[in-house]
Amino acid sequence: MECEGEIDQAIQRALLDRVHRHTGIHMADRKWTLLQGRLRRRLQTLTLDSYRDYLSVLEERPDEVGHFINLVTTNETSFFRTPRIWEYLWQQALPEWFRRNRGATLQIWSAAASTGEEAYSMAMLCEEFREQHPAFKYQILATDIASQVLQAGRAGRYQGRNVDGLLRARPAMASKYFEADGDGFTVSPSLRAHVVFREHHLHKRLDGAARFDITLLRNVLIYFDDEGQRTVLEHVRRAMAPDGVLIIGESESLTRLNVGFDFEQPLIYRRKDRVDA
Ligand SMILES: C[S@@+](CC[C@H](N)C(=O)[O-])C[C@H]1O[C@@H](n2cnc3c(N)ncnc32)[C@H](O)[C@@H]1O
Repeated sequence: MECEGEIDQAIQRALLDRVHRHTGIHMADRKWTLLQGRLRRRLQTLTLDSYRDYLSVLEERPDEVGHFINLVTTNETSFFRTPRIWEYLWQQALPEWFRRNRGATLQIWSAAASTGEEAYSMAMLCEEFREQHPAFKYQILATDIASQVLQAGRAGRYQGRNVDGLLRARPAMASKYFEADGDGFTVSPSLRAHVVFREHHLHKRLDGAARFDITLLRNVLIYFDDEGQRTVLEHVRRAMAPDGVLIIGESESLTRLNVGFDFEQPLIYRRKDRVDA
């Protein structure tokens, strides 16, 4: 394999550009070390000697793109990440929606779902709410661009750090909604039945007629440049119900972007109640 000093700057830039082309993720030149680290094992698997050869494979074999996307995305997540959000959903968003929409089904979108912890956290919260309000109905769509994390989400089997965090923070929920399974835990079939996983690139328009009342778009905008963020937010806005709640991640903000959402409180926005073109 070529040594690091020999890697042509043009090849580096071309691979960084491919990240943008296939995912919308903006990677500056200084991210090359990160990207190189993520691709190294793939080169070994394909018995390629150089990043130049890998670039050719990426150009010539469309099925390589999926592997590339799985490798270049950052999929860090956890159950009930950012506790304040879940308090807001439990105390305000769910009761308010239920009061105003009796008989309807709450539509929720986990829009960069990774391995599903966010979607299943939402499902657990909804199940708890349904215990108190038996007429409450909900559906969750979990989407991501990376096929590998979606596969893990569909399997709903968790082990290690993430499940330990859930067991510590919400032990009653963990035993109610998960079944011990060897060295891990698997989501109960009744919880899983409420979550559909689907591949979706956020820079594209989401097909389907659903109008989401709650969208979790957390810790993903951070990877896009301003133009990319605006594109994503416009697609998200169009997929949401008027007045729907949008929740973003702790290091993200919409204030600079002047998109169609009103600030409600930090991390929480509402779709402006206007009719779509
Ligand atoms: C850091 S995780 C965030 C997971 C979860 N939302 C959370 O906050 O814990 C970011 C996820 O965004 C996904 N992602 C990156 N670019 C995307 C795109 N263009 N469309 C859809 N998902 C994307 C990645 O695959 C990754 O799983």
